[in-house]
Amino acid sequence: MKSAITQQTQHILNLIAKRDLNDDEKKQLIDETVDNFNAYINPGFLQYRKSFSPDYVAVEWADSGSTFTCVKGIEYIDCLGGYGIYNVGHRHPKVLKAVTDQLNRQALHSQELLDPLRGYLAKILADLAPGNLKYTFFTNSGTESVEGALKMAMLATGRRTIIAAVGGFHGKSLGSLSATSKAVFRKPFLPSLHNVRHIPFNDLHALEQTLACLQFTGDDAAAVLLEPILGEGGVIIPSDDYFPGVRRLCDKYGALLIADEVQTGMGRTGKMFCVEHWNVEPDILCLGKAFGGGIMPAGAFIGSEKLWTPIFSNPFLHTTTFGGNPLACAAAIATINVLLEERLCERAQTVGDIFLNKLKSTIKPYTPHLILDARGKGLLIALEFPDTDIGFRVSKGLFQEKILVAGTLINAKTIRIEPPLTITLEQIDNVINALSKVLKEIASEMKVQLINESITKPTPIPMNNLQQTVLSRQL
Ligand SMILES: Cc1ncc(COP(=O)(O)O)c(C=O)c1O
Repeated sequence: MKSAITQQTQHILNLIAKRDLNDDEKKQLIDETVDNFNAYINPGFLQYRKSFSPDYVAVEWADSGSTFTCVKGIEYIDCLGGYGIYNVGHRHPKVLKAVTDQLNRQALHSQELLDPLRGYLAKILADLAPGNLKYTFFTNSGTESVEGALKMAMLATGRRTIIAAVGGFHGKSLGSLSATSKAVFRKPFLPSLHNVRHIPFNDLHALEQTLACLQFTGDDAAAVLLEPILGEGGVIIPSDDYFPGVRRLCDKYGALLIADEVQTGMGRTGKMFCVEHWNVEPDILCLGKAFGGGIMPAGAFIGSEKLWTPIFSNPFLHTTTFGGNPLACAAAIATINVLLEERLCERAQTVGDIFLNKLKSTIKPYTPHLILDARGKGLLIALEFPDTDIGFRVSKGLFQEKILVAGTLINAKTIRIEPPLTITLEQIDNVINALSKVLKEIASEMKVQLINESITKPTPIPMNNLQQTVLSRQL
């Protein structure tokens, strides 16, 4: 057994070292990947991924710029963006160089000697983040950033209740899952943190009522945890007075404002941090996803000196082994450099506007029967459909046209379009042409039905239960 595993691992190491595969190697890799997913990962994934069907399998092999390439050499324009991790593009040379330079000297940290990159990155974040946000705790993912922020809010205020939004998504570890809002993800694990209240998003009246009721009952809110734009909720953009109002109400009732910018941060919406659109200063800012430049898993949460004071005397109250490691910090420092030097926040704004306008005119002839809305801020864009079936057809059609898009975890009727901020105008035109073709095809199928059956939607593609529940992730 041991010698078989040695042989197997060596075979895989040889594969990793290769740039190109011959036809036999490609076939073997594809077959083995499908078998391994089936037998050792979760066969459920194969049932709902668009990249797998009895007659078509796409196994990823390489990436660069705004594209992924599969083992067979087919290139896909990436409008899925790894759910928001590729803001500076795939394997940006500067991020790649920083990480490999660091790797060639030292990979992980001693945990005892002082690690310089952690210090430099924390200082950069203090300079970059709004207001008096100053101290940073580094994490490995978005959900960890939210977990830490919740603990910090409880510690700093001595209160326990958290207010979050219906439609919000904050991760799936137990603490952050309590703040995430969709029953299908929460119900199997209830009760988790029971002091979480969900209120309608973009509703200041609901927020004030909840804060006042909690004050009355003695369950005073420690924090209001919100995404500036509901990303997984289907790109729901609040009115301009919402976040300034949330800030005011938090101050009035002594609650902290935690901005979950795991998805909206790092330039995605046209500003480095989305709350900057409304000049709002949160008490804690959570980062993840694109923070590691699409190369390293990395996250962070940043707070003011006042908030951090309780952990000055005992920094071991919240710790992580890998968070803030030198490779992740090198990636984040390079990412911030690239975002600023290449003016990618500004680019997200201008290119996002162009993309959105083109999407709006493309969908116009098909609204409202096939498609309801195109909306977005910067390059965080969504298309909303009357039902999940049409959305699934469109995303499947786009995949056949070699365009990757994805659903959103909370709102199954939307497709997210979240490409690298470096996407070219030519690539955007390719996406628009593909969308136009796909909508036309679906519309012509619909017309036949409209005449014959007098219904306004196409026959749903048969879906199993698993597809129904998780479809939104993969639309
Ligand atoms: C706003 C927000 N917060 C937190 C998370 C969780 O991040 P992760 O999947 O890295 O744990 C996500 C992931 O989609 C997110 O969009």
